[in-house]
Amino acid sequence: MSRITVVGGGTMGNGIAQVFATSGDEVVLIDVSPECLDRAVARIGKSLDRIVKKERMTAEEAETVKKRIRPTTELEEAAGSTLVIEAVPERLDLKRDLLKRLDGVVGPETILASNTSSISITALGAATGRPDKVIGMHFMNPVPVMKLVEVIRGQDTSKETTAAVIAAAEALGKVAIPAQDYPGFVSNRVLMPMINEAIQCLMEGVADREGIDGIMKLGMNHPMGPLTLADFIGLDVCLHILEVLYEGFGDPKYRPCALLKRMVAAGHLGRKTGRGFYEYD
Ligand code: CAA
Repeated sequence: MSRITVVGGGTMGNGIAQVFATSGDEVVLIDVSPECLDRAVARIGKSLDRIVKKERMTAEEAETVKKRIRPTTELEEAAGSTLVIEAVPERLDLKRDLLKRLDGVVGPETILASNTSSISITALGAATGRPDKVIGMHFMNPVPVMKLVEVIRGQDTSKETTAAVIAAAEALGKVAIPAQDYPGFVSNRVLMPMINEAIQCLMEGVADREGIDGIMKLGMNHPMGPLTLADFIGLDVCLHILEVLYEGFGDPKYRPCALLKRMVAAGHLGRKTGRGFYEYD
């Protein structure tokens, strides 16, 4: 058992806090307001309820897991953690600023990990005085269910840091797979062009939304069709990642589809806004 800190209580942050607490670690969960923290704790409670319903955990165990999570708005509470994982919104300035502040709060041995889906780990590491201890720890949504943690080594990330983070992911029962720090790493460099092409097919009328998703689900055995998955991830997130790929490689094959841009401009961001390629309650 060790102490870890998660900064950011959104979908990914609360999932990450939950899996560490489930595996027996004490977790400090930091966000900017008590309201954000209340929402995060409520979502963790719901996810644990689901696991209890499936009889994979008793109600008492779920209570113990919840008690291991200490929500706070104070960044200084990260002091004393062996590992800090940030899962704040995908903005380079925000993440760099946060890592710089954390660098001054935690001990010299602490590893600073980012759950970023596309921002350069090298650029994040360079914002701190410990680039050898800055690394990408890219969890997949929904965190309690998905097996993968993509581990991204920045230019100066040390072998020791990589090994420690792989061990931490494995202690959660996850499979850690390393990747180098290039735009989109492996996961989103492969996934996002597929989603983009599915949106292009929709725009061109190659098939309707159910047709495109049905072909990919039944034909390729994907658990969700690409349009459903885009709604699940968030269309703004998909657009942002495609922009990072397009800019990072300067290759037109990553150019975001015009329909994706139009959906985001309209505020139809997928599940989180109740409307994307599909409608949600
Ligand atoms: N917490 C706990 N358990 C959860 C959960 C959550 N938040 N969400 C789902 N589950 C559990 C369910 O209880 C269920 O358990 P059983 O197998 O014991 O029945 C299981 O997961 C499957 O859930 P459901 O039966 O409700 O629904 P499903 O079979 O349709 O599966 C899904 C849902 C797991 C999300 C599945 O559709 C899936 O794998 N989809 C693809 C997800 C994916 O690709 N994620 C990666 C996105 S990309 C990303 O995250 C990175 C990025 O940078 C953009």
